[in-house]
Amino acid sequence: VDDDVKDVTMDMGNSLLPLNDLKRIDAEQARELERATVEVLNSGYWLNGPRCKDFCEAFSRYIDVAYCVGVGNGTDALEIALRTVMTDYKNRYRSAMRNEVVTVANAGGYTSTACFSVGLVPVYIDIEWGSQLADIESLSAAINERTLAVVATHLYGGVVDVPAIRELLKSRDLDHVVIIEDCAQAHGAMCRGRRVGSFGDIATFSFYPTKNLGAAGDGGLIASHRMDFETTIRALHQYGWSKKYTISYSGGRNSRLDELQAAILHAKLPRLDAANARRREILDAYASACPDGITMVESPLGGVAHLAVLLAEDRDRLRRHLDAQSIAADIHYPVLDCDQAGWMDEKYRVVGGLEVSRASVERILTLPCFPTMTADEVARVCRALQAYKP
Ligand SMILES: Cc1ncc(COP(=O)(O)O)c(C=O)c1O
Repeated sequence: VDDDVKDVTMDMGNSLLPLNDLKRIDAEQARELERATVEVLNSGYWLNGPRCKDFCEAFSRYIDVAYCVGVGNGTDALEIALRTVMTDYKNRYRSAMRNEVVTVANAGGYTSTACFSVGLVPVYIDIEWGSQLADIESLSAAINERTLAVVATHLYGGVVDVPAIRELLKSRDLDHVVIIEDCAQAHGAMCRGRRVGSFGDIATFSFYPTKNLGAAGDGGLIASHRMDFETTIRALHQYGWSKKYTISYSGGRNSRLDELQAAILHAKLPRLDAANARRREILDAYASACPDGITMVESPLGGVAHLAVLLAEDRDRLRRHLDAQSIAADIHYPVLDCDQAGWMDEKYRVVGGLEVSRASVERILTLPCFPTMTADEVARVCRALQAYKP
């Protein structure tokens, strides 16, 4: 009887449409992943082996950045990247004066977490309304002689204009400020013929399972064109070792991309562009279905639609409307970093009133968007959007 009931609800289109569904893997990909997994298990080489090296080389070719180091997750990647920049600065100037990291407050707290854990001060700037990405004027007001780095977060799969940030830094005689691209939500995104991760001095990636390129567990990566940064990153991610059991860098830790995750990611990499194109189609379909008063967040420079995020005046009413049709929705992210209760006692700085960030946090809503969504499911979300009266 239960099964009959389930079938009937499914026929009525009322089964829950989730935000993401990692169980959906096509048969050929499933075979590839199974083969990769069994090979690693049988090899008896589960850490620091050839698969991590091979994947890092393949990813390095994919984003066209000389050096890639696999690490445990995207937050570690940010932390190690920041510590690398600090180490470089201290070695050059024997100073700790530059201790500020300019970033946005709406990107889920990962950069702040990394800053606090290495003793740097996040400086929160405002965002642009349509893209929800860093606002260059606000950035201009934030940078000064204390700025050590700017973290450009390619949020929701959108692309931050990193060359514009570079120009701004140059025009203010701050060329030494390091630009870190947080690409955790934008694997494969292209801008003016180049992939994100190739514009800054360092780029960080997360391979959390729901990311555009996701592992079957935790994973991360740090990329850089600079060989000196690579040397430091490589040491810091394994205890500060310059060679086995020889610690040449303080502030080291253990954060590795394991062989199983590396093999899985390598097997998935050739399908990333096609998966991103499908995500894009879904976002475009939603954009066409939005009634007046609701807009999909879009980056003018392109993007890979990691999340389909909209802006709506009465977001909670829209959420209830979707919920009534069993369409999942969520908020990425519901609390700005500067408002997180757990960080009340941390040292940070806020530039201006963050008016756009504050207005947005009340209006953002994330819709289902994943490459294995069926055409019917996309149409179902579109119908729900069209039927909504803002
Ligand atoms: C923008 C951004 N940066 C960093 C991270 C941190 O990655 P991880 O969860 O692998 O630590 C995430 C995701 O979780 C993210 O979305």
